[in-house]
Amino acid sequence: MSDGPVVLLGCGRLGSAILEGWLLTNAVAPTDIVVLTPSEKPAAEVARDGGATINPPLETLREARCVVIAVKPAMWREALAPLLPHLGEQAVILSVMAGVTAPTLAEGVGPWPIVRVMPTTGVARGRGVATVYAADAEARALGRALFAPMAVTVDLPDEAAMDAATAVAGSGAAYFYAMTEALARGGEAAGLDADTARTLARATFVAAAESAGDEPLTELIGRIASPGGSTRAGLNVMAEGGRIEALMTEVVAAAVRRNREMGQN
Ligand SMILES: NC(=O)c1ccc[n+]([C@@H]2O[C@H](COP(=O)([O-])OP(=O)(O)OC[C@H]3O[C@@H](n4cnc5c(N)ncnc54)[C@H](OP(=O)(O)O)[C@@H]3O)[C@@H](O)[C@H]2O)c1
Repeated sequence: MSDGPVVLLGCGRLGSAILEGWLLTNAVAPTDIVVLTPSEKPAAEVARDGGATINPPLETLREARCVVIAVKPAMWREALAPLLPHLGEQAVILSVMAGVTAPTLAEGVGPWPIVRVMPTTGVARGRGVATVYAADAEARALGRALFAPMAVTVDLPDEAAMDAATAVAGSGAAYFYAMTEALARGGEAAGLDADTARTLARATFVAAAESAGDEPLTELIGRIASPGGSTRAGLNVMAEGGRIEALMTEVVAAAVRRNREMGQN
C-alpha cells in the first residue's frame, strides 16, 4: 500500500468529522492530509495548523494514495472530474456517499479501484461505526486502515447490503433519539412535567448506551425486566402483535428506499 497523501474532497458535516477523527487518532498523519473545500471550514483550519494542506494546485495530487469523496451524491461527478487527470495509477477512490453504487462510481471514475465506506459522524470522537465494501482487496484494506482507528468497522461481502447498513448504522442514532423523545412524551402523558420527562428520558438513554457493552441485549433486558414486573409490562406492549419489529422494519425499509433514490443521480 502506498504512503502518499490522502485527499478529502468535501469538508461538510461528514468530511469535517472524518478530518477531526484522523487528527484525533492519527489514522492519517496530518502532513499526509490534503483537503479540497470551496469554502473555509473550522476543521480544515485546525488541520492546516497541524500540517495539512488545504486547496493545493491539483497538479500536486499525483502521489495521492486515496481520494475520499465526501460531497453530496448529486455533486460528485462535477467535484471529482477536475482531479482525475492529475491522479497517479496507485490512487484508490473512496466514497462515503450514501446510495452511489460502486458500478456507478466506476463508470464516472475510470481505472482506479473503488471502496465504499459508510461511516457515522461519531468518527470525529474516535467512536464511529463504519461499514466497508470493495471488490478489490487492497482498496478494502485501505478503507479499513483509514477508518478502523476511529470506528467499529465492519466489512460487507456484498454491496447490496450497503443501503441496509447505512439505514441501520448511519441513520440509527436519529432513531434512538426519536425513541427517547417518544419515551419523554410517554412520561408526560403519565403525569411528569415536560422538562422532567425529557431530562429523565435522555439521561436514561445515555446510561443505557454506556452500559450496553458487548453482552447480548436480551440479557441486558432480562436484568431490568423481571417476570411479572413493570418493565416487562411495558415490553409486552412493545412486542404486542410484533409491532416494535414491524415499526423498525418499516423505518429501515424507508431509509433504504431513500438511499437508493438519492444514489440514482
Ligand atoms: N452527514 C452524515 O452523517 C453522513 C453519514 C454518512 C454518509 N454521508 C454522506 O456524506 C456526504 C456528505 O454529506 P454531508 O452531510 O457532510 O453534506 P454537507 O455538510 O452538505 O457537505 C458537503 C460538502 O461538500 C462540499 N462541496 C461541494 N462542492 C464541492 C467541490 N466541488 N469540491 C469540494 N467540496 C465540495 C460543500 O462545500 P461548501 O460547504 O463550501 O458548499 C460541503 O461542505 C454525502 O454524500 C452523504 O451521503 C453523510
